[in-house]
Amino acid sequence: MTALIESILTRKSQPVIDGDIPLSDIERIVQCALTAPDHRSLRPWRFILCSRADCEKLIRRVELVALAQETDDASVEDITAALQRLFTTAPRVVVCVLYVDRSGRVPEIEQVLSAGAAIENMLLAAEAMGHSGYWRTGKLAYSPLLTAALGLEENALICGLLCLGHLEQRMSMEPPQRPDLCRHFFSLDSLPCREFS
Ligand SMILES: Cc1cc2nc3c(=O)[nH]c(=O)nc-3n(C[C@H](O)[C@H](O)[C@H](O)COP(=O)(O)O)c2cc1C
Repeated sequence: MTALIESILTRKSQPVIDGDIPLSDIERIVQCALTAPDHRSLRPWRFILCSRADCEKLIRRVELVALAQETDDASVEDITAALQRLFTTAPRVVVCVLYVDRSGRVPEIEQVLSAGAAIENMLLAAEAMGHSGYWRTGKLAYSPLLTAALGLEENALICGLLCLGHLEQRMSMEPPQRPDLCRHFFSLDSLPCREFS
């Protein structure tokens, strides 16, 4: 089995990652995102690299946006706390953005799938390079406050907050439990055709 297949089969998302990754490795990881399948070559993805040091800057931007938009304090506190929590889990967060093309040339679902493939490529690349990652979204990703704080346009969708880092010491873990192949993969002959049964 190739090293890549082995890495895919044994990969495990890491909720808390302490050690940092060199910028050159992050650039390599993002290059892997850019090979994602992409109908009509829309290149709909943007990736914004944030480090722990950027957390306070992001919070300041959120506060400024909230002030301008007269957002209630509770929502601002919510987002601020979520940002602080996020950066306790990893030294780097790649904000993965899909710029949705609404011209009708490519169905939106295909653009979302392409963004997902790009993020998965990064996760797999990070693992294959010996690093770790965790794909997060939650209320932070879907917050208009964060979208505005990042200076993103209206058609921007944050599809992932990809936490990246390097685990200094990988805990020896049981191999991750994965679903049974037979529950998810079928031959045509094993599936009865409802119209004829
Ligand atoms: C689009 C997407 C969003 C996700 N958002 C979160 C999240 O906000 N918080 C979380 O704990 N897990 C989230 N997950 C799940 C984790 O990234 C991870 O896949 C899950 O914990 C299973 O671990 P595994 O990848 O090692 O199998 C998300 C997964 C996807 C595909």
